[in-house]
Amino acid sequence: MKKLAVTLFSAVLVPLLVVSCGGQKAPAAAAAAQADTPETAAFNYRDGLMKAVAWKVGKLRGMAQGEVPVDEAFAKKAAHDVATLAGMITEGFIPNSIVQGSAATPDIWKNFPDFTQKAADLQTAAQALADAADANGFEASKGLVDAVGKSCGGCHRPYRKRQE
Ligand code: HEC
Repeated sequence: MKKLAVTLFSAVLVPLLVVSCGGQKAPAAAAAAQADTPETAAFNYRDGLMKAVAWKVGKLRGMAQGEVPVDEAFAKKAAHDVATLAGMITEGFIPNSIVQGSAATPDIWKNFPDFTQKAADLQTAAQALADAADANGFEASKGLVDAVGKSCGGCHRPYRKRQE
């Protein structure tokens, strides 16, 4: 009797478990398989990089616009960080990497020298801010944050599908 119950249990429940686990596992497995490609890895890299850039520039903008008090040391470091991050952008745009979730446009790879120039524009603007802040303080240099912000749109307009 006990054995029958166990048998019934397995007969009824095991397929259910398999089905429900299978159902839950499928997306995770698909994501894992996707993450294994160099193209998806490149997308994840640049997406994280952009988010880091946005985080830092958001802080700088907040301080430049007087929304949050100026923290000189934090602002100087953030400006240097953005310049460094800007120099890391193009390596994330490997060929054929418009994977699911990407907002990159194919024009990036048709005009890669121009795309590279747009990344350099951000780097130059952030470096100018960092140098000025080092020399005269962020408070005196905060007008340069605008140029940093403008360089985002300068690249997003031609090379990113969703508008800011
Ligand atoms: C050299 C070009 C370039 C520059 C400069 C640039 N971006 Fe981007 N950014 C892109 C591209 C292309 C994407 C889309 C990448 C993808 O989805 O594959 C992107 C995506 C993003 C995303 C990802 C999430 C979303 O909403 O799509 C954020 C956030 C972002 N950028 C913020 C910024 C900010 C803030 C700046 C300026 C401080 C900036 N970017 C400068 C090219 C650039």
